Amino acid sequence: MKFIPIRNIKEDMVLARPIFSPDGRVLLNTGVVLETHYIKRLQNLGVPGVYVIDENVGEIHFPENISQRTRSEATYAVKSAFDSLRIGKTFDFEPIADSVKKIIDEVVSHPNVVANLSDVRSFDGYTYAHSVNVCVLSILLGLKQELNETRLYELAIGAILHDIGKIMVPVEIIHKPGPLTEDEMSVMKKHTNYGWQILRRHPHIPLASAHIAYQHHERPQGLGYPRQLTSDKISPLAKIVGVADAYDAMTSERIYRRGILPHEALKVMRRLRGVQFESEVVDLLCESVVKYPVGCMVRLNSQELGIVVDVNHADHSRPIVRLLYKADGTKMRSFVELDLAKEPYHFIVEVVR
Ligand SMILES: [Fe+2]
Repeated sequence: MKFIPIRNIKEDMVLARPIFSPDGRVLLNTGVVLETHYIKRLQNLGVPGVYVIDENVGEIHFPENISQRTRSEATYAVKSAFDSLRIGKTFDFEPIADSVKKIIDEVVSHPNVVANLSDVRSFDGYTYAHSVNVCVLSILLGLKQELNETRLYELAIGAILHDIGKIMVPVEIIHKPGPLTEDEMSVMKKHTNYGWQILRRHPHIPLASAHIAYQHHERPQGLGYPRQLTSDKISPLAKIVGVADAYDAMTSERIYRRGILPHEALKVMRRLRGVQFESEVVDLLCESVVKYPVGCMVRLNSQELGIVVDVNHADHSRPIVRLLYKADGTKMRSFVELDLAKEPYHFIVEVVR
């Protein structure tokens, strides 16, 4: 399996991962052979690229924290909430609350499976899929902090709705591919205040969740927005969502740029630990997130090239690697899998794209 940017997709390539519509439904499933009209549709939807089957690699099983069904339902619930608010209606909170409870249950039962290659999201669907990812990641971090059931619920609701204030920001700014001007940025920053106003007025939404929407862009040394709060004033739940939000944004594939790889995102966050990101949460993220996710191509110190097919939860830096190419660049005749946890003289030196 490999990721192919949209401009390089050719007819007859076979999808290795499903493509989702903005509301979280499967648009094209795994195994679909790409025909010209599919490719055109994907281009129109602003899909940044697709994962296609690479016969050289063989079959890979991608573990997930939550089921595809729960993910789709949650994405749809978030989209519906955004759509209702956009046309001035109040939103139906029940589907959001139901989805969040399901996500919590599933993450609690699969806390070990963390952050695999992100789903490919269409341009319009980015915000909704991102909201669900931030929710899943925040719950994982909340579990590491041993939050009780009520706090975990407040965290998850705030996480899934953290960007709800974006409905008040013009779509040209939200969808602008590339950096915003200073004026556009100041409009964008208001989504935190809007989110707080929307959520705090809602009779069924905990105030702690509304504070997450308000504070998720505040940063430990007062460099964030909208109020430049310092670490001692930022809610512990907003600190979690601030880190989860930044990590998922960095690692997501977008139409105008490739997402950075998990180990690179972790490196950036460790470097900005205590300044841009809450130190304790960054440490928990490094423990939780898989550095070399399933599907990632790696070079070993032996110069052999392989693909990660499973994760060792005891040691994230030593996954199970299926060797594909020998040190001299020739293809392996048959698949050999190396469990790096049991191979002290083998280690990963590079992630290859
Ligand atoms: Fe935000």
